[in-house]
Amino acid sequence: MPLKSDKQDALELAQAILGKAIGMDPDSVGPALLERVLAERRRQTKSPTWSAYQNLLRCRPDELDELVERIVVPETWFFRDLEPFVLLKEISAAARATGAFYSVLSAPCSTGEEPYSIAMALLESGFDPNKFHVDAADISRSSLQRAQQGVFGKNSFRGQAPFEAERYFEKNKEGRAVRAEVRRQVRFFQTNLVDPDGFPANQSYDAIFCRNFLIYLKPDVKTATIKRLWRLLKPDGVLFVGHAESLPLLYEHFHSTNRPRAFAFLKNRDDATQPDAPAPRTADLTPGPVAAPLPRRTRPARAATRSEPIKRRREDSPPLRETSVSSPQAKEAAPNIAADDMEQARRLADEGRLDDARRLCEQRLKLGRPEADVYHLLGLVEEAAQRFAAAEEHFKKALYLEPGREETLVHLALLCERSGKAKQAAALRQRLKRLKERAAVESSG
Ligand SMILES: C[S@@+](CC[C@H](N)C(=O)[O-])C[C@H]1O[C@@H](n2cnc3c(N)ncnc32)[C@H](O)[C@@H]1O
Repeated sequence: MPLKSDKQDALELAQAILGKAIGMDPDSVGPALLERVLAERRRQTKSPTWSAYQNLLRCRPDELDELVERIVVPETWFFRDLEPFVLLKEISAAARATGAFYSVLSAPCSTGEEPYSIAMALLESGFDPNKFHVDAADISRSSLQRAQQGVFGKNSFRGQAPFEAERYFEKNKEGRAVRAEVRRQVRFFQTNLVDPDGFPANQSYDAIFCRNFLIYLKPDVKTATIKRLWRLLKPDGVLFVGHAESLPLLYEHFHSTNRPRAFAFLKNRDDATQPDAPAPRTADLTPGPVAAPLPRRTRPARAATRSEPIKRRREDSPPLRETSVSSPQAKEAAPNIAADDMEQARRLADEGRLDDARRLCEQRLKLGRPEADVYHLLGLVEEAAQRFAAAEEHFKKALYLEPGREETLVHLALLCERSGKAKQAAALRQRLKRLKERAAVESSG
């Protein structure tokens, strides 16, 4: 058997340490990036050998901080996905009307675009600035420092805003600076979201944005984090996740708002689905500079004021804004196979009209040759209906027709994990990893 190299040992050690410290699933990052980062750190720390670097990593917490800073993905932009911000304005309307205090958490917040977008959306909807706040947390010191500076370049503006947002910025030579009226609504702090002590036990929020984070976590850490989010959310609170994060696991403790493209969830109230009660903890209530070492705890919690319950059924929701893809006509019209039926089926699924979406897909399959896209969509429909075995079958058919369909691989792997088929899940993740590596090689060549 070939001996493992020191470099391989260092890679495995780093994966294990990062898995423990920040819950990172090594497959979500890939060994190529980690190897590059490790080589850079070995050079910068002037470690003569790989084992010298390993010792450093084992013994010096600040070296772990450095590694984390380099390995996390800070990708974010203003009003990312758009619809969550539209829905937030609608959902918070009840609190605004009654004057109840409204608290929002953006975690992880990266360089601040997300929490500032939230604050702008709430100000825009007419909230009294004294009646809401946005807590914004991340593990990365450098991202938090940039967030606090509040000056953003072109890369932070990649999509549409749900309203005329320009007035919340002032232009300077470095880019657009967020105006003071918005900045004062947001409080940044450093925390490790996978640390059970990351938030005071009595802290809770009306809305939580936890987007584009769960996908990077190991399955066990993902489960624990979802439970933590459940606890941090007030009974009628809303949780926003990223577009690829409507995970089967979430459905154990939350249910979808069925709002198209908002990826928004409400808490399940059924006793049987409630996560275990949190162990009582003594939380550190001291506010700290963002440059504090990780993992650290949060700044003080404000007195939580209960807001009015939000509407739980889609039919009860306030009318959609014009930016929404869902129209009243779409709700009434019978599905029509003649038009662009796949697009329509997708829209119906997004709207929560799962039976209609399923029917349209099945009609399409009857009329034409089998298509991976149709089976994938059927898989999503069954997943949303919590018919996980049926979803699995559809995803498998999609992969049979298109073996390199990454999104399907992710969904199927998650379903397998959920139903305890660890081996199958691992094989699917392996496949996904190979695809990603191949794509990375192709794009670099
Ligand atoms: C892709 S960004 C998401 C930003 C924003 N939520 C969005 O969707 O645009 C992921 C962020 O997660 C942060 N992060 C990774 N692991 C973390 C952890 N264990 N605790 C807190 N933040 C973490 C990273 O620093 C990074 O800023």
